Amino acid sequence: MRARGLSFHEPAREISTMNTNPLLPDPQHLTAASWITSPCLGGPRTVPPAVYYRRVFQIAGTAPARAILHITALGIFECEVNGHRVGEDVFTPGWTDFRTRVYYRSYDITGFLRPGENVLGVILGDGWYSGHLAERDRQFYGQQPAILASVEDHSGATSVLLAGTDQAWTYARGPILENDLVMGESYDARRELGAWSSPGDRADGWLPVSLLPAPLIAVERSPGPPVRRHEVLPARAISSGPDESWAPGLRRFDFGQNFTGRMRIRVSGPRGLHLRFRYAETLKPDGSLYTENLRTARATDHYTLKGEGVEEWEPRFTFHGFRYVEILWQKISGPLVIESIEGIVLHSDTPRTGHFACSHPLLNQLASNIVWGQKSNFLEAPTDCPQRDERLGWTGDAQVFIRTASFFMDVRGFFHKWLQDMRDAQGADGAVPPIIPNTQSFGLPGDGGPAWADAAFICPWTIYLCYGDKEILREHYASMVRYLDYLAANKVKDRIRAHPDVDGWGGFGDWLALDGSGRAEGGTPKDLIGTAFYARGAEIVAKAAALLGHSDDAARFHALHDEIAAAFAARFVTPDGFVVGGTQTGYVLALHFGLVPTDLRPAAARELVRLIARNGHRIGTGFVGTPYILHVLEATGHLDTAYQLLEQEAFPSWLFPVKNGATTIWERWDGWTPEKGFQDPGMNSFNHYAYGAVGDWMASTVAGLQFDPEQPGYQHIIFKPRPGGTITWAEARLKTPHGETSIRWELKDGTLALDLVVPDGTGATLDFPPSCQTPALPLGPGSHHHECFFGKI
Ligand code: BGC
Repeated sequence: MRARGLSFHEPAREISTMNTNPLLPDPQHLTAASWITSPCLGGPRTVPPAVYYRRVFQIAGTAPARAILHITALGIFECEVNGHRVGEDVFTPGWTDFRTRVYYRSYDITGFLRPGENVLGVILGDGWYSGHLAERDRQFYGQQPAILASVEDHSGATSVLLAGTDQAWTYARGPILENDLVMGESYDARRELGAWSSPGDRADGWLPVSLLPAPLIAVERSPGPPVRRHEVLPARAISSGPDESWAPGLRRFDFGQNFTGRMRIRVSGPRGLHLRFRYAETLKPDGSLYTENLRTARATDHYTLKGEGVEEWEPRFTFHGFRYVEILWQKISGPLVIESIEGIVLHSDTPRTGHFACSHPLLNQLASNIVWGQKSNFLEAPTDCPQRDERLGWTGDAQVFIRTASFFMDVRGFFHKWLQDMRDAQGADGAVPPIIPNTQSFGLPGDGGPAWADAAFICPWTIYLCYGDKEILREHYASMVRYLDYLAANKVKDRIRAHPDVDGWGGFGDWLALDGSGRAEGGTPKDLIGTAFYARGAEIVAKAAALLGHSDDAARFHALHDEIAAAFAARFVTPDGFVVGGTQTGYVLALHFGLVPTDLRPAAARELVRLIARNGHRIGTGFVGTPYILHVLEATGHLDTAYQLLEQEAFPSWLFPVKNGATTIWERWDGWTPEKGFQDPGMNSFNHYAYGAVGDWMASTVAGLQFDPEQPGYQHIIFKPRPGGTITWAEARLKTPHGETSIRWELKDGTLALDLVVPDGTGATLDFPPSCQTPALPLGPGSHHHECFFGKI
């Protein structure tokens, strides 16, 4: 075996993305078409083949001036017209609750059509619809995928149907012998179907489709971005440790980055040679793949060569979360040449908007890890992780990270879509489940519980703040109110949510906090977390009501908020300013949500600082407290402690994984430690974005780029840098809805120099650090330079 063209330091290349124009005309004939399918193969635990479908249709006279393909599926598809791949979307039509809704997409295929015979071909896979989902067997939504499509001539005022899904379609099984998002894909190149989507007779092996009674679900244009292929990552061949004895049958490659996607291989070798691909996020000390944390995800692909020169293959209907790939083959006589192997990064098309950098290299790597955590988990839904058999839209994780996500990428459309998923999942009683789309997993109750289901308030509100998007509040307002009312009716006693006297589950707690409790749920009292988020929810809904002109509601929810806040203070804050439970997260929530009476805030903040110091200046928060802890420290005058936590390198800390080679954010502070090795493989993802929530503080406080909640969407920008720790310069850049804004500061000889850019049509305020003793300055559009005396750091 020879490996050619493999270089590690080659920079990542971007694949260009073509916009599937959302302004294309609406379909006129789509819902009148029939859903088509083919006989079901495989049961709940098999991994079945993908199915090829084709339809021949005639165009009399000249080809239409504007032809649009409108298409959707129960499953996932790729389509071709006359041999041309249509669009660049991946896993279309994505993931919705198929019991309620499915989205179509529209593609301009004018250039592909010609007079006479034309062919529309579709390759249909299981996807979320009938593949393995949520740690359970296959076929959660349905047994066998189906397609609905119409090719329409939109040249004139009324559209004319050229071809729709109907009885005239045929299907065949081809080279994709297995397809599953979680388990992987098997491809036998010897079984390729040739020019199957081009005109010409294809009678052999093609069978008539069956029609499926139309499911009673909404068929709508997708409000969110499609999944696309993004960076191409080069690979480096790595030594294969003790397995070397297998050589030449085994090779391992390192993409240098943990990510979500798949690999693309260019290979030549003897016909019938079978290659097996396994994936892992990290290696064991002996150099073999650490796959235990994938749980039941097989995450294995197979390729059988046809033996006709250089063959290129990238799986279609699967993705993995990985940094390493291992290729195994049986011993062979003929030469096998791996020309290249590359990593193809997949995620929902959420364009990059924000950048952060500073003088501290480890913090820059942390920022990179945060962005990769986001890319890896923003694929159709904001998922917890991309690698193991879970990959679910956990509400808690989403609300924890959304603020950071909204800085680094444009996630507005992505959340419009996901909040529709949430509305589809909301119970008749108003309950918001823990996982959206709702897969009813793990025997969990219908209510997601504190800090998880509260994504119902926090997510639309954050999108409003970050993009000035009032529409999302309008869309989600009724749902928020229903959830607040649900809480009052079912989960609350005396304004205390998750009150021990109220039967039922109290939520996930401060998930994975290392706070001395020894429990995954952490030691912060669940009624404290519940009531804090209840107060925050009421506050958000009150503000949303006022913005939307529902003044009665606004008054009702403001009053509710005040009552909850009073109940919180009475129950959880002592007259000396101690917060019950004595955890970092308890103090953080009480202070961040404004639930500590004003006169007690300094005492409570001092106690928080004492707790942190007693913990060796190390973090003790889990999912729930982590996004806010540095904000609270800064807001209460303890910036130095905030920087001690941020720059801490000893375990547990944000930089501990970075020091240990992480390229994404770990699920657990202790996913791996030198003393104990790997954590429990039952729950040990190396690509969970939750703790990456600190990215928001890095951009907004270290660099100092903030929106003004009173004029959201960066209509008015607040530059509020708060230099500290060992950092000598920092910068943040952001493409706002109004244009690009940026801040860069540098400290030299006690002088703070600031460079700022304010986009046209907006304004800004420069809020100097307190030690500059310089009053805040209003700034108009354009570039600005300011200096002040800061003092030595
Ligand atoms: C997920 C988390 C999620 C949690 C609920 C885990 O299995 O990976 O990220 O929020 O369950 O506590």
